[in-house]
Amino acid sequence: MSSPDRSIRIEGLSRTFRVGSTAVHAVREVSLTIPEGKLTVIRGRSGSGKTTLLNVLGLLDRPTAGSLRYGATDVLRMSDHERDRFRRSEIGFVYQTIALVALMTAWENIDFRMRVAKASVEDRQARVPECLHLVGLSERASHRPFEMSGGEQQRVAIARAIAHRPRVIYADEPTAELDTITGIHVVAIFRRLIEEEGITVVMTTHDPAMMELADHVVEMENGYVLEHADDTV
Ligand SMILES: Nc1ncnc2c1ncn2[C@@H]1O[C@H](COP(=O)(O)OP(=O)(O)OP(=O)(O)O)[C@@H](O)[C@H]1O
Ligand SMILES: [Mg+2]
Repeated sequence: MSSPDRSIRIEGLSRTFRVGSTAVHAVREVSLTIPEGKLTVIRGRSGSGKTTLLNVLGLLDRPTAGSLRYGATDVLRMSDHERDRFRRSEIGFVYQTIALVALMTAWENIDFRMRVAKASVEDRQARVPECLHLVGLSERASHRPFEMSGGEQQRVAIARAIAHRPRVIYADEPTAELDTITGIHVVAIFRRLIEEEGITVVMTTHDPAMMELADHVVEMENGYVLEHADDTV
């Protein structure tokens, strides 16, 4: 029996912002399939629409037009409540600016995210060390953010994003504030999560070094997605 297709499909997707009497076409009629269990990188100049597309994909924002499916699920037809629940359970986010809770240790930051997802105490006690191990930070469990390097903090943020076992992670320029080597380590962790947890990762970046590590590169320009002959999967 083949497993169900869980790729993410968008068709004719647009997001237009109204600012006063003008319209900003941030994303324009994008059709795209994001393959399951792969690392997809979205690249493009500043203002090309990457964050807007990521926010729509991650159900933080609604498109002005078009469709969005997670496997067979038409997420735009869900009620607000169902969509919030879907986002909380199926999606994890990692941002450019690391948003850990300053007073909490690495362990507590991850545990807190699982409490939000209503995980049981037993599950949390087993999963938190597993996530720390996945990002190579078992030794930093009791460190607070200011007691860790930027790269370590970003790895805790990744551990937190995967703790509730989402099927997809959206990462908006997660390596922008890191040096290239540290950035490559962070992307290597995404690769490991793809292999070990079967997660799908979509990240935006400006950095050519990160694109080398992608399975699939999507290029945006002025709200459009450009077709690429060299897409590799
Ligand atoms: N809430 C908003 N209201 C109005 N315009 C917006 C809004 N958000 C984004 N835009 C505009 O939409 C376009 C795309 O913005 P977006 O943030 O998606 O670009 P980006 O590719 O992520 O850029 P960067 O690389 O600088 O992060 C820009 O022209 C931006 O000014
Ligand atoms: Mg952006």
